[in-house]
Amino acid sequence: MTVADLPKIELHLHHEGAAPPAFIRQLAHEKKMDLSGIFRADGSYDFRDFTHFLSVYEAASEVLTGPEEFRRLTLAILEESAANGVVYTESFISPDFCGGGDLHAWKDYLAAIQDAAGEAEAKFGITLRGVVTCVRHFGAETAKKAAQCAADTAGDWVVGFGMGGNEGMFSQGDFAWSFDCAREAGLRLTTHAGEFGGPESVRDAVRNLGVERIGHGVRAIEDADLVHELVDRGTVLEVCPGSNVVLGLYPNFSAHPIARLRDAGVAVTVSTDDPPFFHTTMRREYEMLSKAFGWDADDFAALNATALAAAFCDDATRERVQ
Ligand code: ADE
Ligand code: ZN
Repeated sequence: MTVADLPKIELHLHHEGAAPPAFIRQLAHEKKMDLSGIFRADGSYDFRDFTHFLSVYEAASEVLTGPEEFRRLTLAILEESAANGVVYTESFISPDFCGGGDLHAWKDYLAAIQDAAGEAEAKFGITLRGVVTCVRHFGAETAKKAAQCAADTAGDWVVGFGMGGNEGMFSQGDFAWSFDCAREAGLRLTTHAGEFGGPESVRDAVRNLGVERIGHGVRAIEDADLVHELVDRGTVLEVCPGSNVVLGLYPNFSAHPIARLRDAGVAVTVSTDDPPFFHTTMRREYEMLSKAFGWDADDFAALNATALAAAFCDDATRERVQ
């Protein structure tokens, strides 16, 4: 058995971003939509930088027009994750792509996703929980609608609230109302920070949004005081090394700061972010980290223990999946 065969916990996976290009092409074909501009000749997603990635992502999401598309997508994602040894995953699901922030529509989408998750659990042995996500570049008013959808459906399955999107727009604190609303509904909190924003964005997130996890967070390494603050607070980073390499933050895995953050005492976990966009899987992330840093089965077991402890699910689920 190699490290890549170990059972895995994944905390950072975007639902639309996990859609295989062939899946999106098939739906586009069925709906007679022309999405040829977002694919390369070899069939993979075509983007040149982070902001272009976000617009290709949104263009691909346009074929996901109803609950049935999300049911099919959820089954496809979970089959692939399970094939990579993932036993528990949390995915980011956005009301902006699931009914446009309308609560009634959102509940229909959510029911379809949960239904597919139940089917996948029985068939593939993988457990999914949802983290409702607002999209930062859609602005604070749109985020409020996402937060209200999240608050209204909070429970055993919708377990968290988060924010993705373009970190270059607005500040974390501009979204405090939405994060407060989600927290008051009992949801656990995470936000993307320290990916394309620097250490100040991570500081803004932990101080002004009160999140316990950070999506990426890797640029905290540029500020030693912040690294200490993350250790003291016990903030957990959802690190996605393959995503960071493809989007040009670091030239390769060896130059990635995940090992330095871990060695400084920061709680790090590993995820794929948007696997088909970044030509990765959880299996590949493990293989690449093992190659770059010599991490062995004990290192990955510790990583998974951190991830499971930081998962937003209830304790009964945590015990069942480990
Ligand atoms: N949405 C999907 N992937 C993302 C990423 N890597 N950063 C910010 N928002 C995202
Ligand atoms: Zn992400």
